[in-house]
Amino acid sequence: MDLGKLATGRLGKVPPALVEPMFRLAERIPAVRRRLDREYDETIAALRPAETPGRQPLTRLPARGLPSDKILATLTDEAAAERSGWEEGFASGAVYHGGADHIDLVDRAYVIHSQANPLHADLWPSTIRYEAEVVAMTAELLGARRTDDEVVGTVTSGGTESIILAMKAYRDRSGRKDAAIVAPTTAHVGFDKAAHLLGMRLVKVPVGADFKADVRAMAAAVDRKTVVVAGSAPGFPHGVLDPIAELSEMARSRHVGFHADACLGGFVLPFAAELGRHIPAFDFSLPGVTSMSADPHKYGYAPKGTSVVLYRGRELRRHQYFTAGDWPGGLYYSPTLSGSRPGGLSAAAWAALASMGKEGYLEATARILEAADRIKEGIGTIDGLEILGDPLWVIAFRSKDADVFRLLEAMTRRGWRLNGLHHPPAIHLAVTLRHAAEGVVERFLSDLGEALDEVRHAPPGETDSVPVYGMAATFPVRGVVNDLLERYVDTLYEA
Ligand SMILES: Cc1ncc(COP(=O)(O)O)c(C=O)c1O
Repeated sequence: MDLGKLATGRLGKVPPALVEPMFRLAERIPAVRRRLDREYDETIAALRPAETPGRQPLTRLPARGLPSDKILATLTDEAAAERSGWEEGFASGAVYHGGADHIDLVDRAYVIHSQANPLHADLWPSTIRYEAEVVAMTAELLGARRTDDEVVGTVTSGGTESIILAMKAYRDRSGRKDAAIVAPTTAHVGFDKAAHLLGMRLVKVPVGADFKADVRAMAAAVDRKTVVVAGSAPGFPHGVLDPIAELSEMARSRHVGFHADACLGGFVLPFAAELGRHIPAFDFSLPGVTSMSADPHKYGYAPKGTSVVLYRGRELRRHQYFTAGDWPGGLYYSPTLSGSRPGGLSAAAWAALASMGKEGYLEATARILEAADRIKEGIGTIDGLEILGDPLWVIAFRSKDADVFRLLEAMTRRGWRLNGLHHPPAIHLAVTLRHAAEGVVERFLSDLGEALDEVRHAPPGETDSVPVYGMAATFPVRGVVNDLLERYVDTLYEA
């Protein structure tokens, strides 16, 4: 049995509504279960992360500690082997700055404060101050000065945590056990995770033909259980901005909160606007925007592990906090999901923002937008490719005549690490400063043209790897895809 053939062959003939229950019934038969398990294992084996040749994995503590030089040599060699993938601009997103001097600065900031924990503000007052200043700088960037309300927030570990905390704040403020979030289908999966963890309902509303949130459909989805409406600036899949002004006004008129997710755009859009690009309002200058997320660890050029969640007013932020006044361990508070927090990362984020300054971000944004313009123009000239929506620098495209997942595989064989999308099937590239380096745009476009030709001319099955991603993206039984994903995560933790 081949899962790919099963999906496109036999299962394709079954009425869609019956596919999942029939499959679930069949897999209870032991022989089918065994074959499926084998098939899952083979599929997953193709995806197992590469091992470093010659390195013995440590699966138990060494009896005596290894010498520092040996440890550092291992880390250095492995990082060096992985370096070209991101440094030479082969990755979508991932490393957003990547300049040697910038990395050196943020690394050193981390090292200086590697022992600090902002949870202990008495012991490390400096690192909690870095967090406060990162929040203040981000708030100012996102319209805090253009509203009479106070804009406050916290530093978190990433965009997903910022979204979870904001959703928690709305849920707890409402006091409802059945609180619901209304978001477009293109909103980041962090909203799904938030709803799952917080016991909230996520009402997902289809987007329009331009991949933007459909304001009327979103308004129709709001009911008395809705505590927050969300939109993206821009959204991860297609890089388009939802109509934040209209959505937030709709939410305001219905007396519910509005979260503008600017995890991707928070450190790009304000500078793009200043550079003269047409950027519709998306931040706290809009009275209906009551919370936002923006990520220093993406286009803020901080190291991984730092995001900011912002609120209009202290009252909403308080619903994010956790406090315990009667724990035997003492008086306890924690503003975010973690207990202890890495002070080194707070210092590094502060250092990133402080060193870039407004001028640095303007220059970086100009370079990214210029590279993105050339990529969009180039894609436009490749016959049969089509850009989805009207993106600024996160560019999704599909093919009119070739299987886009085979195209993704063909690009992977050329070293590229792009993102596969579904609904509709497409590929995206989040343009970073790495793509603004000399020759990268040209290499991307020539590889893309070549890969497309290869896919058009090689019959399916002739390429050297199974298009696992495409199979998983289109497999008609979602439960199977989730099983595969869980098994994939298992393999990541196999030493
Ligand atoms: C729009 C948007 N929101 C939220 C997130 C989640 O961010 P993180 O991966 O830092 O949790 C992302 C990540 O790409 C994103 O693009």
